[in-house]
Amino acid sequence: MLSPMIHPHPLESPIPVTDLQKPVLGIESSCDETAAAVLARDGSVLSNVVASQTAVHEKFGGVVPELAARAHISQINEVVRDALIQARLSMNDLGAIAVTQGPGLAGALLVGVTYAKALSYGLGIPLIGVNHLEGHIASAWLADPTFPLPCVVLVVSGGHTHLYRKERTGQCLLLGCTRDDAAGEAFDKGAQMLGLEFPGGQAIDRLARQGDAKAIPFPRFHQRKTSLEFSFSGLKTSLLYTLRKMNDHTQREKMADLAAGYQEAIVQVLVTKAFAALAHTELSALAVVGGVSANSRLRVLLAERAEREGVRLALPPSIYCTDNAAMIALAGQQMLMNDSQGGRHVDIQPSLQQSVVRQSGYQGESAHS
Ligand code: KG4
Ligand code: ZN
Repeated sequence: MLSPMIHPHPLESPIPVTDLQKPVLGIESSCDETAAAVLARDGSVLSNVVASQTAVHEKFGGVVPELAARAHISQINEVVRDALIQARLSMNDLGAIAVTQGPGLAGALLVGVTYAKALSYGLGIPLIGVNHLEGHIASAWLADPTFPLPCVVLVVSGGHTHLYRKERTGQCLLLGCTRDDAAGEAFDKGAQMLGLEFPGGQAIDRLARQGDAKAIPFPRFHQRKTSLEFSFSGLKTSLLYTLRKMNDHTQREKMADLAAGYQEAIVQVLVTKAFAALAHTELSALAVVGGVSANSRLRVLLAERAEREGVRLALPPSIYCTDNAAMIALAGQQMLMNDSQGGRHVDIQPSLQQSVVRQSGYQGESAHS
């Protein structure tokens, strides 16, 4: 255990005020990555350490919550220490701590939040509870701090496929989301059906590069081309029936084509809807964030279309797409800019929805696709 200097303030002392000149430590433990990062005052990333738990969960084909929590406990101290060493800082140099409080696995969140609480109390610095989704959204500004607002943000992760309009004030307005599975879930479930390794998104991405995306067509859910709702459950069923019609030999032979066709159906819909959201909002800046935004085919399609249509695109480097703590530190830093006191009673909120979001009620209009 790290041994921070215990600050003598009693529990009822005033909430500490952040020194905004000092770096922020971010901690993320909502799922199967234990991560810590240090951000300088100007938003530059001084360190970004991620300890993956893939080896713990791969034999189960998915994340096992109890094992995730135990792995966080065994790794968090070392991950935070490495983040400070890489940033060439000591704990006493920190101005605040930002930690993911939800949504996520309760046991996993509890490790990060409890650790961060103890550290903030010991150091006498504010603690900020960050919504994981707001962390992903903030990641767009990690690599491109001048990215403009207002803009459209597409969050595509294991649990979310959400389109937002982000205002100059920082407030996000929900434009549309998935009716069923998230895009990352579709990748993971598809990979499982294809017998690929965990995590599935990266496995499909790699295999698809050797396949022909047109060889085996899969349905694309658009509802209406202008609708901003997603659905991926039909696609999953379609893969199941396609596989049932093939014998083992054909399945093995066609694996890369299956992966490419399946991936294409997901990413084409994501691109279509993201650009429909730009048309609807009459904006010309698009940020795409979350684990699925690391997908190589999606990145190519987005970059090509953005270039063609004169859209400014924020597509963070892959290390900031999948779960990391730099994005949590940045979201926390942005919150501190508005209110330099952290919360005294930060607690886990496993099913926390994005607090700043309200529904726009937009349903799209006209013709079926
Ligand atoms: O944002 P993230 O790391 O965690 C959540 O907040 O859910 O996203 C994880 C999701 C998983 O479903 C994973 O399969 C997917 O992102 N993913 C990918 C790729 N890398 C990660 N999906 C497609 N292609 C990738 N290269
Ligand atoms: Zn995430």
